[in-house]
Amino acid sequence: MTRTAQAPVDRRFIDRWSPRSFTGKPISAADIMSLFEAARWAPSTSNTQPWRFVYGLAGSAGFEAIFSTLVPFNQGWAQRASALVAVLSATQSVAPGTAQAKPSPNHAFDTGAAWMSLALQAETMGWRTHAMGGFNADALRLQLEVPAGFAVHCVVAVGEQGPRENLPAALQEREVPNARQPLEAMVAEGRFRFQA
Ligand SMILES: Cc1cc2nc3c(=O)[nH]c(=O)nc-3n(C[C@H](O)[C@H](O)[C@H](O)COP(=O)(O)O)c2cc1C
Repeated sequence: MTRTAQAPVDRRFIDRWSPRSFTGKPISAADIMSLFEAARWAPSTSNTQPWRFVYGLAGSAGFEAIFSTLVPFNQGWAQRASALVAVLSATQSVAPGTAQAKPSPNHAFDTGAAWMSLALQAETMGWRTHAMGGFNADALRLQLEVPAGFAVHCVVAVGEQGPRENLPAALQEREVPNARQPLEAMVAEGRFRFQA
């Protein structure tokens, strides 16, 4: 058992994980929109909502455009995803009561919160997600026509979990929920007590 809670917590936080074996089951336009709806309600600095999602459903030109930018390791398993989602964010924002766009220091932080909402919504609907930093960001920009002023963060595979036997042997061993550092390694009371 790799996942045990140190404090009482809702199971959804522990049960979410990122498999690589997907069945290829098609996801409907309505289902994927529910994932973005969950992300829409994430908190953000001055409610600037800097996140942007560009997606492609399996079999579409949009899917192929994103897929072509993945590193070979990720292409090996993400080919059976039902959808690929590029997670981007606006690096500038217009604060309430002002007219001029200024650098938005929390665009990445806010977009991280939105992606997690997307991931947890997917779990409630029987879908799994797997984020990937292994892609060519320049190629993704070109493929999706991302303009300056937007950061490219990751690509998320969405799919129905498949049997681990569908994966190559090396990946089968890794197809299990992983562990976490203990709470003491990430939480301190009163002052910073962690090892540098
Ligand atoms: C931003 C980001 C980038 C990641 N990049 C990759 C990747 O390129 N390939 C991959 O197989 N997994 C990738 N992962 C998955 C992580 O390895 C995984 O989330 C982590 O080990 C925790 O496991 P869990 O999501 O199953 O709880 C990425 C995750 C995040 C959040």
